[in-house]
Amino acid sequence: MALRQELARVLFPGERIAERVRQLGAEITRDYRGRPPVVVGVLKGAAAFTVDLGRAIDLPITMDWVAVSTYGRGSTTGEPRLLKDIDEDLTGRDVLLVEDILDTGTTLAWLMARCREHAPASVHCCVLLRKPHAVTKPVVPRYVGFDISQHWVAGYGIDYAERHRNLRDIHEVRLPAAVSAPSS
Ligand code: IMP
Ligand code: MG
Repeated sequence: MALRQELARVLFPGERIAERVRQLGAEITRDYRGRPPVVVGVLKGAAAFTVDLGRAIDLPITMDWVAVSTYGRGSTTGEPRLLKDIDEDLTGRDVLLVEDILDTGTTLAWLMARCREHAPASVHCCVLLRKPHAVTKPVVPRYVGFDISQHWVAGYGIDYAERHRNLRDIHEVRLPAAVSAPSS
């Protein structure tokens, strides 16, 4: 298969992502001074972003991971399934969920509700990319890397059919005609 043909133009070169990650890290450092958060990356898509963001935060943060699989993305019945839970005790802690993409908001709304069950001091989200759907949803991320339009993207941890997570740039994916995007 001609994998390169799956990828269309570069939306965000690695250097531009790195610059934005530095800015977000500086903002988070200011906002959480004196109360370092538990930074929880959502696997697998946010792995690269979470690691880079964590290094851009100048506070003694704790890093943790959660993994979910999402069924029926975009439908109201599709409920995420937990593949790996958060290890840290969140009670009384400031939690910062780090996600690759906010699309319909299903995944983050569900994760935030789960976190709140543990009576944390606060729960906020940082997303690298926000798609237009998100505007109508109840999840309002505190930090957003970039707003993008409704196309499928891959690279910098984000996959298309589990491929391209290793790329430094974020690309627009050229989807096969009449085939909808796979859920991750
Ligand atoms: P939501 O639950 O509808 O907000 O969808 C968010 C999840 O869908 C993210 O965690 C991503 O894993 C996945 N997703 C949404 N758009 C894309 C994309 O363009 N490329 C890869 N994954 C995506
Ligand atoms: Mg994901």
